[in-house]
Amino acid sequence: MAPSRIISELQVRSSRRRGWNRSDSCPCNETQPQLCCGIISPRGYSHLSRLMCTGAAPIWSSSSKEGLKMLVNAGPRAQKLVGIWAFGCSMWVFSMVVIGGVTRLTRSGLSMTDWKFTGTLPPLSEDQWLIEFGKYKQSPEYKRVNKGMSLEDFKFIYWMEYAHRMWGRGLGLVFAIPFSYFLRKGYITLRLGLRLSAIFALGAGQGLIGWWMVKSGLEEPVSEYVQPRVSPYRLAAHLTSAFVIYCGLLWTGLSVVMPEPPAVTKAWIHGAAKVQRLALPLSFLVGITAVSGAFVAGNDAGRAFNTFPKMGDTWIPDDIFSMEPFIRNFFENTSTVQLDHRILATASLLSITGMWWASKKWDLHPAVRSIISSTMGMAALQVTLGISTLLTYVPVSLGSAHQAGALTLLTLVILLNHTVRRPSLSMLKSLRSVATT
Ligand code: HEM
Repeated sequence: MAPSRIISELQVRSSRRRGWNRSDSCPCNETQPQLCCGIISPRGYSHLSRLMCTGAAPIWSSSSKEGLKMLVNAGPRAQKLVGIWAFGCSMWVFSMVVIGGVTRLTRSGLSMTDWKFTGTLPPLSEDQWLIEFGKYKQSPEYKRVNKGMSLEDFKFIYWMEYAHRMWGRGLGLVFAIPFSYFLRKGYITLRLGLRLSAIFALGAGQGLIGWWMVKSGLEEPVSEYVQPRVSPYRLAAHLTSAFVIYCGLLWTGLSVVMPEPPAVTKAWIHGAAKVQRLALPLSFLVGITAVSGAFVAGNDAGRAFNTFPKMGDTWIPDDIFSMEPFIRNFFENTSTVQLDHRILATASLLSITGMWWASKKWDLHPAVRSIISSTMGMAALQVTLGISTLLTYVPVSLGSAHQAGALTLLTLVILLNHTVRRPSLSMLKSLRSVATT
């Protein structure tokens, strides 16, 4: 091969490794991509969105390209792979939370009385089943709640808990193996690597928190009238940590595939900034509502005051501050915990509706508008599911649908915040230069 061809081949390869190819024209085959990405024309917009979604980004000049917050090296294919993997992992966490909820609602969570980080095989013979069942018979839950349970019924609750734990370990593999592959291939930037390592550490910690939670349910309750159940604080810690891992993975996946928000006109950027000011506090409110839900679940508070909108015959039960010290009421008092959850859920729904109402007058990107409408629809559905769960004494089906609903609402809130981020300086500059073309 002639030396000049070798050099040009090497240049092409190296630019491909960096994710774009100088010799490429615009992916929509326009000769002047800046004009193709015209500020108002829908065709131009779709071109720009495609660029942002694929991360190909050749329209940026060399310096503005550097300003793009790309999290993945090595081009659109690598970006797509890492994005699919991050979304896949977040979906796995979603399913993990739902399986965890079903495990709790079927009262299966305390069936395994020991824990190993690496996991163990399930009982494989009748003798091994009898040994496991014997261990369970020593637990307070068997003695006080399930006395006389058959081996068949025990097998059911054991398999539920076993599946939940193994699904979690499966997630560890699904996360770690592709992650090391992407690292070896050099796809992942330092920033992304650090972020993913932090999420991995949280995931490993989640297993430990899970066992710390289960252990509290295996201890003898303080009084003989109290049913054995896990500590509401530990349950809330376990659920909150799952939510944080889920949101972290989702945000990361979105940042990988969409390094820049869809901001094509100045008016849309201003509109997005207005939405962002409301979306941030609102997300915090939805997050707190979800955590307060974990305390409702942890205290079994959904099996009391099964009426709505009143709690029994009153709007506010008399005993909401009956515990000492005062602060305990917010975490351990059935009435207060449920009242808080109702108030926070109502506040979330009203605030989301308020944002939807206010945003009707603003000039917004169509994607932002449709996410706001979906968030409002989901919040209304979630409140309906919550009320139905309460009125029907928390059946497994509605209880788990309500939990999945909370995650779906969080997903939309995360998507909204991600979509209305401030564009990077280089993108703003680029828009300005396109506007003056
Ligand atoms: C924005 C609205 C809401 C959100 C984000 C939300 C979130 C949650 C979450 C995350 C849980 C814990 C689920 C679990 O660990 O199994 C929960 C439990 C619960 N929520 Fe809500 N909730 C909302 C509205 C409501 C409303 C309006 C009610 C009824 C008045 C309600 C009633 C309940 C009940 C009874 C439980 C306990 C279910 C169980 O024991 O599994 N929720 N909620």
